[in-house]
Amino acid sequence: MKPVKVGICGLGTVGGGTFNVLMRNAGEITRRAGRAIEVTAIASRHENPACDTSGFTLQSDVMALARDPEIDVIVELIGGYDVAKELVMTAIQHGKHVVTANKALIAVHGNEIFAAAREQNVVVAFEAAVAGGIPIIKAIREGLAANRINWLAGIINGTGNFIMTEMREKGRAFSDVLAEAQALGYAEADPTFDVEGIDAAHKLTILASIAYGIPLQFEKGYTEGISKITPDDVQYAEELGYRIKHLGISRHTDQGIELRVHPTLIPKSTLLANVNGVMNAVLVSGDAVGQTLYYGPGAGSEATASAVVADLIDVARLLDTDTHSRVPPLAFQSDELSAVPV
Ligand code: HSE
Repeated sequence: MKPVKVGICGLGTVGGGTFNVLMRNAGEITRRAGRAIEVTAIASRHENPACDTSGFTLQSDVMALARDPEIDVIVELIGGYDVAKELVMTAIQHGKHVVTANKALIAVHGNEIFAAAREQNVVVAFEAAVAGGIPIIKAIREGLAANRINWLAGIINGTGNFIMTEMREKGRAFSDVLAEAQALGYAEADPTFDVEGIDAAHKLTILASIAYGIPLQFEKGYTEGISKITPDDVQYAEELGYRIKHLGISRHTDQGIELRVHPTLIPKSTLLANVNGVMNAVLVSGDAVGQTLYYGPGAGSEATASAVVADLIDVARLLDTDTHSRVPPLAFQSDELSAVPV
């Protein structure tokens, strides 16, 4: 079968990881996808020293890749709203499938993007947008497809969990740990998104839309971050037998579906209380299956690339088929309002 031709847009932490995983695991990936996944072009303003891209000329114009008739799939890893949205919409309009790790883009503009993708009969895949390497989108949409989802709750920002863990275990200062998270490539380009809960709110919005079949409604949730947590708070919680964890929670209420992200006190003995460092974990309760738990690295180069490449393999499997008959719809049967929580 002919290879899938991919344009990678953005060669930062996740873009570099994606390139490296595609190169290193090309044999396994080809076998699983049923065809080779070939990087045809890379658009990036900077080289990434972690990648050997010799043999490629890095292009500066990402839009040129979205219009390039040689390219089947655009991998959007530049982040942010404006350029990323233009890139994704241009790619869709040119009949290309899209793989993205951009939770901000999906949470805020996803309804419009999915409508355009449906019209063009292309796939927009975004497993890497939530919980890094954990295949939580697939788990909810495919593995739990038989269930009515009752609620879900989880640690869905690796940077925040890393900061809280280091403060508790080593008494380190908030700003010092945040700087390390940035150096390790965990944090967002604007780390305010991590520490003020915005990144977690983006991810919760996406999870809820899939779990409950509702449109993406980022603006309707309650969002609070960890920036006001002090070392004393962490210490007192510990003495009382609790841990402070920043959680994203969504559940059915009498008023509709509630979406909220905020620090919570949870007993030390619970599973979520023992999810440390950059690890994420999401508990999902379904009416048939009961409670299920998904755990793994929530940020980082190759952990996130693992989800990006899995989406690329899915797209490769779908090529030359009627995508509408193969891909679960990404938008949504009902328009249930989310309740704003207390
Ligand atoms: N900044 C994000 C986090 C990256 O720390 O979870 C992964 O989405």
